[in-house]
Amino acid sequence: MGNTHPPRTSAWLGPRRRHRLRGAFILVLITITLLGLYATRDALYDAYTLAALPFRWGHHANRFYISQERDGFDLTFGNYSSDQLSAEDQGYQDKVPAVLHHISLGGGGSSGLAKTRDRWMEVRQSCLDIHRGWEARMWTDEAADAFVEAEYPELWDMWKYGYRFPIQRIDALRYMVLYRYGGAILDMDLQCKRGLGPLRRFEFVAPAAHPTGLSIGFMMASKGNKFVGDLVANLKRYNRGWLGLPYPTVMFSTGCHYASTIHAFQRNRTELKILSGTRENPRMHSLNGPVSTPIFNHLGSSSWHSYDAALIVSIGKLQAWRLPLMLIGGSLVSFILVRRIRRRRLLRKL
Ligand SMILES: *[C@@H]1O[C@H](CO)[C@@H](O)[C@H](O)[C@H]1NC(C)=O
Repeated sequence: MGNTHPPRTSAWLGPRRRHRLRGAFILVLITITLLGLYATRDALYDAYTLAALPFRWGHHANRFYISQERDGFDLTFGNYSSDQLSAEDQGYQDKVPAVLHHISLGGGGSSGLAKTRDRWMEVRQSCLDIHRGWEARMWTDEAADAFVEAEYPELWDMWKYGYRFPIQRIDALRYMVLYRYGGAILDMDLQCKRGLGPLRRFEFVAPAAHPTGLSIGFMMASKGNKFVGDLVANLKRYNRGWLGLPYPTVMFSTGCHYASTIHAFQRNRTELKILSGTRENPRMHSLNGPVSTPIFNHLGSSSWHSYDAALIVSIGKLQAWRLPLMLIGGSLVSFILVRRIRRRRLLRKL
């Protein structure tokens, strides 16, 4: 019986069938691509927002960069007394509550760590000494665990176990604490030179980063600020691995680039103030590297916004081999594929 049928392959190789097959193949490919795009649409949109920051950041920047002309604010702080703790001295209402927050996670480590911690405690004390009468909160592991578990149960698992780098947990905690309590949150390596009172009239303030965005090592905010709430609400969404590379992973999930992106996509940024500088000295308040600004001495030795930066950066260097390796691997595979297809075409022509 079977012998009476023509061999199946001949029909398959007929030109019309082949043409149809190719059409079907392209259709499947397009469908898969569309489905893939649809499935990853959130990731694609987030990647777009992160990539758009340099183009979007400066939009209407004159509205939210604090200035003498617009806000009547003296950026040098020379007109303000160095122990000014309230904006009422200039007749403004204090929108930022009188609270100082510091975060110090990852305790119980080596003696070297303990020694640096003692040093940072002294630096922190400089801020407490100036801001007498303010509530001072120190967020250690124990306090932070209890706080996040009680106040943000929906973020607890991710915050406690889902971040690869300790700095991500510190950054995420900044936003949660600032949203819940308001006040000023300061990195442990910021030595205070004067009172933060004059800035309390703004509902949000962070120093400018250069060339774009804001720094999160120092932020002031009113309690329950909508923008800070958005920083908390988007943590889950932006928690991605970025090939396991530490720098983009930290910057895009919780760090300065993340916060700046959320800022850049706020509907009205007028009240979300950025502390920059004058035209002559635009980096007056930049906390990049070890610098002295009108309000702080920044003792950090690296450009990162935290004191365990050196560690992260060194891990970053170790793992940076991944990207070139992937690029080389990808090119190799494409090269081999293209060669194969070409050879097949050549054979067909013969
Ligand atoms: C943004 O907010 C400011 C202050 O709250 C307000 O004066 C301004 O009209 C708002 N701008 C827009 C475009 O809604």
